[in-house]
Amino acid sequence: MFIYNFLLPRVQESRWICLLQVNYKNGILVGSLFIQVITQNNLKPFSLVSSHSIWFLLAKMKPNNFILLFISLLLLTVLNLSSGKDHGNKGGNGDHGKKHDHNNHGQGHGNEKESSCPQLERISRDITWRRSAANPALPAKLLRMHFHDCFVRGCDASILLDSTGGTEAEKEAVPNRSLAGFEVIDEIKAKAEEECPGLVSCADIVALAARDAVAFQFRRSLWPVSFGRKDGRVSLASEANATLPSPAANFATLRQQFQSLGLDVVDLVALSGAHTIGVSHCAAFSDRIFNFTGKGDTDPSLDPDYANFLKQKCSNPPSLTTTVDMDPGSSLSFDSHYFEALFQNKGLFQSDATLLTDPEAARLSRTFQNQGAFFARFGQSMVKMGSIVSGEEGEIRKNCRVVN
Ligand code: HEM
Repeated sequence: MFIYNFLLPRVQESRWICLLQVNYKNGILVGSLFIQVITQNNLKPFSLVSSHSIWFLLAKMKPNNFILLFISLLLLTVLNLSSGKDHGNKGGNGDHGKKHDHNNHGQGHGNEKESSCPQLERISRDITWRRSAANPALPAKLLRMHFHDCFVRGCDASILLDSTGGTEAEKEAVPNRSLAGFEVIDEIKAKAEEECPGLVSCADIVALAARDAVAFQFRRSLWPVSFGRKDGRVSLASEANATLPSPAANFATLRQQFQSLGLDVVDLVALSGAHTIGVSHCAAFSDRIFNFTGKGDTDPSLDPDYANFLKQKCSNPPSLTTTVDMDPGSSLSFDSHYFEALFQNKGLFQSDATLLTDPEAARLSRTFQNQGAFFARFGQSMVKMGSIVSGEEGEIRKNCRVVN
């Protein structure tokens, strides 16, 4: 007789779930079936694989048992699908909704599991996916916007505010001048205001749009978003210039900058993997190829062929408009190729290449060449980054570009 054991131990980062243990002939345990499910670590299709004794068991199965097995598989599929539906707001990587032990200045914003606007996730996803379909460069812009928002005064949408009077807002800071996608945030906000007036902060929208932009390629979220962030009332270009990491930064500086926001070396390496998509303007790395030590030289740690390719693309002094793909050959695809490029000495910025100068970061970079490992950790680190808050009392802006 078969005994179906439908316990599904959802062990984090485990790709295997024991579907059923088979007790064959008078209580003697003969073998187990394992189902590989779609998890956020593993985006391969649903597939059935066998333990050592599966073929033996299948051969011995009676027709009734086949029916039971079929029902079991059906049930598991339903379970899996429903966990997929939840994924957007209920998490699955173990970090969701918890307060992190980093220095998030403690007001507990950005940690509510559910949005007070139930339609919000659908609104954001529909708009972000439609816009990303029309403009394949958009996901990178929205992802970077969230990073630049969170690193200055926490994730408070200070990045969205326009300059007022004599005060230059963050948008005007040098690293932010190449940001784009603000109109997408405006569109989501307008729709959210229509359906849930006064309930949805611009900061939550920035976090959601970044998540949905990356999800577009997979038609599935790689991480959950918590809600409850508030919009800040201050936005200063000077702070963004001083706070955002420089592409010329060395490892010690990057580690310190991330640490000051409660992000560790694992987060630094995983989040740097965001450079798997998008482009950079030549100015961000031109010193590295044309004037590394002030003597017209090239950074010797850069692959020579790649350096020549970059020199051909970028004039010296660099044109302000020319861009190059950051992950050569794969810059529209969110994947782990960035970490392969790193080991081929094709990391575009010094801040990328420097990850190989620290033993722990280098080891992590090697680990993240595995796409499952990278996606899982990237999601966790995005959740951490997305819960950095300033601690100042915020508001829910009516218009994301101006304070109320
Ligand atoms: C580790 C420190 C980092 C440095 C120094 C850095 C620096 C830069 C620079 C200089 C660019 C090129 C911008 C341009 O010229 O238009 C860029 C692009 C980009 N960065 Fe980073 N970045 C860092 C971390 C991150 C993180 C944590 C994320 C997101 C989680 C991110 C996401 C992106 C994306 C998606 C782009 C492409 C933007 C586009 O295509 O317009 N970066 N980064």
